[in-house]
Amino acid sequence: YVLGIDLGTSAVKVSCLDHSGKIIDQEKENYPVYNSAEGFCEQNPNDWVQGTLEAIKKIMIKIRNLAKIDGISFSGQMHSLVILDKNKEIIRPAILWNDGRTATEAKYINENFGKKIVEITGNKATAGFTLPKLLWLQKNEPNNFARIRYFMMPKDYVRYKMTGKINTDYSDATGTIMLDIAHDCWSNEILNFFKVPRYYCPELVNSTDFIGFPLHEVCGKTGLNQDAKIFAGGGDNAVAAIGSGILNSQNILCSIGTSGVVLADEKSPHTPYEGTLQMEHHAIPEHFYSMGVTLAAGESLSWFKNTFFPQKSFSDLLSMAQESNLGADKLFFTPYINGERTPYSDSFIRGSFTGISNTSTKNDFCRAVIEGITYSLQDLISIYEQNNKTIYNIISIGGGAKSKFWLKLQADVFGKNIVALKNEQGPGIGAAMIAAMGCRWFKDWNSCINVFVKYNEIIAPDPHNTALYQKYYHLYHKIYNSIAPLAR
Ligand code: XUL
Repeated sequence: YVLGIDLGTSAVKVSCLDHSGKIIDQEKENYPVYNSAEGFCEQNPNDWVQGTLEAIKKIMIKIRNLAKIDGISFSGQMHSLVILDKNKEIIRPAILWNDGRTATEAKYINENFGKKIVEITGNKATAGFTLPKLLWLQKNEPNNFARIRYFMMPKDYVRYKMTGKINTDYSDATGTIMLDIAHDCWSNEILNFFKVPRYYCPELVNSTDFIGFPLHEVCGKTGLNQDAKIFAGGGDNAVAAIGSGILNSQNILCSIGTSGVVLADEKSPHTPYEGTLQMEHHAIPEHFYSMGVTLAAGESLSWFKNTFFPQKSFSDLLSMAQESNLGADKLFFTPYINGERTPYSDSFIRGSFTGISNTSTKNDFCRAVIEGITYSLQDLISIYEQNNKTIYNIISIGGGAKSKFWLKLQADVFGKNIVALKNEQGPGIGAAMIAAMGCRWFKDWNSCINVFVKYNEIIAPDPHNTALYQKYYHLYHKIYNSIAPLAR
């Protein structure tokens, strides 16, 4: 068996799979996000470790007499900053990828380092990335900044606690905007310019590199066998792309988790997007991917549910949305509750409902939220379309793929074929695939994908609905400019 650890923002999910790609067991542990000020999002890294070990323990209890674990790997939320001191102790809570406090630092990077930041890293600075967070610490918490011995991303910290080894992989390193993406090394030019000591940077490894075996105490706590091999893993979107078979294909990925992501495999880091989309290393050597990110996709729906319908389930909300008409009686929602990354890179913007009338119903509000999230994903797809990218199918994963209604709504809004995965489980499957490749279960990635990734039938758009949605999307797209002045 292999274990895929999906270290998300709301929970960690651990999946146990066999050689045929069958899911043997899956366990989930939730943990909180702390919003200590508006726009701040932090987590306690030890919550991730505890949750992960607890989920592994539950799996080990279930499979104890069946088999042992051959390999383990990770998918982790990207960009979130974890800092350790010289004793390898946590200095402060992790500052997450969706934390908006570093708008000034992102602006400073873009203005003072100019186009070079895109040339070297493939990315423009935006509030969520790791470098702006380090600059924020330099200014606002100089004592904490000075105490840093290592920074790392979330899955790197959990892996460190499991193996005692500190490193990061190329797919997560790109998201720091301190990696020279074409030369696969930390950029001394960036580090020197922004006064980030070189020794803060962890050693770089490939996602399938073997890192170590579980520490004795980890085996004691979880029941893991001591010879389970632990492999590096990658940033969640790269790993989700693997789990969805996005490799050398003209299919693109649409993922609705806490964030919403539209992602395409790229042959090289040199693309026409010039920083409008993010460029990242894939978790597969010599592959890259581009992506756009909407900060609060699933999170907007969770916020809406928890605020107005705490007693209802997500599927209740989707059934209510289905009772409303296409276009939600001209009620619009913009999902900018945490600011927005692509296409606006705006930490100050906030969400909105527009067009409330005396006939608006609760069902219309539910539908407006679902449609608003989907329009924000269309904003990302539009960037690919404007750059004439051929898109065959859109592989939909995450919350948006759990409901037939939302899958069809995506097909209609995007005007494209949508394909869901059989047995869709988010990036955990991709992490298990990295472990399987690390263990040499397969001779190459294509053989691994053929066994682990199975698609459902295509859902085609209805041209009549797509024409109506194009009209509504056009109106939605105008809202940003009207509400932006209100947020400042
Ligand atoms: C990607 C991003 C998010 C996180 C979510 O750039 O910020 O998708 O990776 O975990």
